[in-house]
Amino acid sequence: MALALIWSLVVLLSISSISLSHATLNDIYCLKTIKKSFNDPYGYLASWDFNNNTEGFICKFIGVDCWHPDENKVLNIRLSDMGLRGEFPRGIENCTSLTGLDLSNNILSGPIPFDISKRLQYVTSLDLSSNNFSGEIPLSLANCTYLNVLKLENNKLTGNIPLQLVQLGRLKTFNVANNLLTGPVPAFPNSTAKADSYANNPGLCGAPLRSCPVMQKKSRSGGVVAAAAAGAGVLTAIVVASALYYFSPRVMRKEHDPEGNKWAKSIKGTKGIKASFLDK
Ligand SMILES: *[C@@H]1O[C@H](CO)[C@@H](O)[C@H](O)[C@H]1NC(C)=O
Ligand SMILES: *[C@@H]1O[C@H](CO)[C@@H](O)[C@H](O)[C@H]1NC(C)=O
Ligand SMILES: *[C@@H]1O[C@H](CO)[C@@H](O)[C@H](O)[C@H]1NC(C)=O
Ligand SMILES: *[C@@H]1O[C@H](CO)[C@@H](O)[C@H](O)[C@H]1NC(C)=O
Ligand SMILES: *[C@@H]1O[C@H](CO)[C@@H](O)[C@H](O)[C@H]1NC(C)=O
Repeated sequence: MALALIWSLVVLLSISSISLSHATLNDIYCLKTIKKSFNDPYGYLASWDFNNNTEGFICKFIGVDCWHPDENKVLNIRLSDMGLRGEFPRGIENCTSLTGLDLSNNILSGPIPFDISKRLQYVTSLDLSSNNFSGEIPLSLANCTYLNVLKLENNKLTGNIPLQLVQLGRLKTFNVANNLLTGPVPAFPNSTAKADSYANNPGLCGAPLRSCPVMQKKSRSGGVVAAAAAGAGVLTAIVVASALYYFSPRVMRKEHDPEGNKWAKSIKGTKGIKASFLDK
């Protein structure tokens, strides 16, 4: 009886230690691949010594925070301002409990992985600012549901900002200043981002910046809405025009030819005003 009890205790303990070491082995492997993926000219990561199997040893590494100091489970990685070169570290997906990643102020280049939401599922703070990242802002960032802080300023990012980022209901800080971005900015509720967050990009538009040209809107996926807005504008113009026509004095109605041009102009003007009003 006592033996059976002890035996089941041993089995239970070994099961829990297997699952624990599986999770923490992933995190160790994660940091190993990150270290390997960076060119580290100043040797900051040389202190990451993996020849020590004490539980929690990675928690003492420079730039690494753990959930508990005696458990190899990484909470944050902060490798700012270390002169690191290389690409976005793909091995980060094996730090499965990571909530914060700060790689700012380095010389990292190449794209931000398109499937970043799978790699950083629980990330609340992502700071890739002041690097040399290029390519587009991945649409999948809109699936990083827990994001509070997204800092991408001072890079070489191109293309449009995914408008789906408005889904990020917890986002407080969003900055994409000093990139090469174009097109409309996401309509964040409660103006999460001020104009400063968009400064020095060649072609961004929409509140809080200048409103977008109507033509540009039409060619995008929101074209139906823009077309409807323009349509409503034209309709309003026609109604206003007819009303003006019927309520205007007889004398004016007689002058058909000069008035024709004037109506056309006023319809064009009204359409422009209405369309840009509805865009906001
Ligand atoms: C291993 O790491 C632990 C915790 O950081 C430390 O106390 C210990 O001295 C290290 N052992 C060796 C051999 O480096
Ligand atoms: C994550 O870890 C698994 C094994 O633990 C490995 O096969 C995989 O390649 C790792 N992912 C990356 C991107 O390094
Ligand atoms: C930044 O990336 C571009 C290519 O996108 C490259 O030509 C340039 O040399 C890089 N700058 C630095 C400082 O590495
Ligand atoms: C976001 O998540 C949804 C639901 O899991 C999925 O269908 C969609 O493909 C994801 N989008 C991206 C860009 O990863
Ligand atoms: C955003 O605005 C909505 C409605 O105006 C409000 O209910 C919500 O609390 C605001 N959120 C924040 C974070 O200010």
